[in-house]
Amino acid sequence: MIEFESVTKRFGSFTAVDAVSLHVRQGEFLTLLGPSGCGKTTLLRMLSGFETPDLGAIRIAGEDVTALPPYRRNVNQVFQSYALFPHLNVRDNIAFGLRMQKVPKVEARRRVEEIVEMVALGGFEARMPHQLSGGQRQRVALARALVPGPAVLLLDEPLSALDAKLRRQMQVELKRLQRRLGTTFVFVTHDQEEALTMSDRIAVMRGGRVEQLGTPTEIYHRPVSGFVAEFVGEANLLAAERVGGEQGRDGAALRVRLEGGLELSVPAMAWPGGAARARVSVRPEKLCVSKRPIEGVENLFQAVIAEEIFQGAFDHLVLRTEAGTVLSAVVPNESAVMEALHEGDRVWCGLHADDLVIVAA
Ligand SMILES: Nc1ncnc2c1ncn2[C@@H]1O[C@H](COP(=O)(O)OP(=O)(O)O)[C@@H](O)[C@H]1O
Ligand SMILES: [Mg+2]
Repeated sequence: MIEFESVTKRFGSFTAVDAVSLHVRQGEFLTLLGPSGCGKTTLLRMLSGFETPDLGAIRIAGEDVTALPPYRRNVNQVFQSYALFPHLNVRDNIAFGLRMQKVPKVEARRRVEEIVEMVALGGFEARMPHQLSGGQRQRVALARALVPGPAVLLLDEPLSALDAKLRRQMQVELKRLQRRLGTTFVFVTHDQEEALTMSDRIAVMRGGRVEQLGTPTEIYHRPVSGFVAEFVGEANLLAAERVGGEQGRDGAALRVRLEGGLELSVPAMAWPGGAARARVSVRPEKLCVSKRPIEGVENLFQAVIAEEIFQGAFDHLVLRTEAGTVLSAVVPNESAVMEALHEGDRVWCGLHADDLVIVAA
């Protein structure tokens, strides 16, 4: 549906988007995820036609749109600020685009009613924007962008003005709506949790480039770099050096020493070929923590609970191994209570070799 081919955008001598090639499938929910300033909005604005690339080409449904103005593209956008017309009620705000397209009145009314139903705004048609909550205004903006039936909808941090609870609710609703309509969504956020929740695929951006493109599961479990591992989810990212080879139960394993001194077995094939050093990423929830030795894990070691932080459903533990390696762990609160895990306790820690992700040093 959408193809970026080596698209570059510079502002003066600064390269905001750097030779990005990215294909988005029809009906896909694709998220551009990355820290502030990495080029997400610029990439989106080139797709909508508000910016022109310096190099490269953009195609939508096979058509080269690189030089087309915004209104000639079958694309619509939802803005962070909603940009509703303050003097128009909900119905007229939503119908605005259809009036511009000169859609016959009866059909326009039918389509507005349909979309009002979908975004759960029934009964609010006559209200003015100032009489709506933030969440309702967001729905109006969404309905207004969707009602002309664009092939592609662009959403630039559309939920960032909402409070945490409403935001989570809207994430689920928006995803459901997208599935139902089958419209291709390109969604921008700097919030990794939001990206993981909503997306079919995520493009993780850094410094104007796409660092990794993959499903939420791939991005989370198989980050290709330390940057992705740390940006998406929590990670213990530790420098590691290879100290020997060994034969594991399930094929070849390598022995590595982490910063601080803890030694672990990692799958040999995960280690960058020939490298003496790399980094190991350990997700805090992959660490098993118990008062008793843990069975069936390739890596078993002892540690002391240096810190215990209550987080409601979970307990966050800071563990220090005998050798001096520090690791964060997250354990379900009930297991922390049942096992009576407390600061100062000596515990056993288990780690499956397969749960270790190796990235370049
Ligand atoms: N019109 C502009 N003129 C100069 N620099 C810009 C302009 N628009 C964006 N930039 C710069 O390009 C970089 C990427 O910006 P942007 O695409 O807005 O990032 P993001 O949306 O990921 O936060 C930033 O460093 C920003 O300051
Ligand atoms: Mg932005």
